[in-house]
Amino acid sequence: MPLLHLTSDELLTTTRTVRKRLDLSRPVEPEVLKECLEIALQAPSGSNRQDWHFLVIRDESRRRALAELYWRSYQQYLASPGAVNKLFADDPQRYLTQQRIMNSTAYLVEHIHNVPVHLIPCVNGRMEGLSSGDQASRWASILPATWSFMLAARARGLGAAWTTFHLDYEEEAAEILGIPYHQVTQAALLPVAYTLGTNFKPAPRASVENVIHWDQW
Ligand SMILES: Cc1cc2nc3c(=O)[nH]c(=O)nc-3n(C[C@H](O)[C@H](O)[C@H](O)COP(=O)(O)O)c2cc1C
Repeated sequence: MPLLHLTSDELLTTTRTVRKRLDLSRPVEPEVLKECLEIALQAPSGSNRQDWHFLVIRDESRRRALAELYWRSYQQYLASPGAVNKLFADDPQRYLTQQRIMNSTAYLVEHIHNVPVHLIPCVNGRMEGLSSGDQASRWASILPATWSFMLAARARGLGAAWTTFHLDYEEEAAEILGIPYHQVTQAALLPVAYTLGTNFKPAPRASVENVIHWDQW
């Protein structure tokens, strides 16, 4: 699969959450997904356990069933005080960005069942009852690989959105997909497709000065 001409810094700063620019009509070849996952498997994992799994869902009826869970969770989220459009109301610039994200999120809710591939990264074990250190270790044994997948996908002209809405109904999703819920944790749901155009820009972010702490908090 040919790669886009991006420097490593361009790749790292332009791998965006893609929602409205997912090409819903272009199929994604299994080979390109496999290539991205092979790269993802180079990510670190606690004790090099590599106890990760990646469900690649192409089947339309399963995508529709997941979309229904996604929609249900989104409705609850909209009503919650933490909804993206309710944050930063006192900062006009940031509030505008939040409104744009909300608009794009609403688009994805309407169309997620039509995105040709849903990827669900999973890790062995459950988080319930683990110490925070053990939880951190287990999450960090799947999230870097998932981000590597997104980077590898971007390099090949694909886009994805990191989403977690369906996890409110993780057990139902496990039933739909045959995942052994009591032994395996789902980490996210990434709708994946080729992007409409490949030009993405770095996003405005709060200054590093606000978050960097040298030597002490
Ligand atoms: C842990 C996590 C959960 C997220 N969940 C969702 C989600 O359920 N639905 C969605 O549309 N976007 C979701 N996002 C995407 C964020 O809204 C997005 O990363 C943020 O707006 C910044 O946009 P950017 O990635 O393009 O810079 C999630 C991102 C992260 C890291």
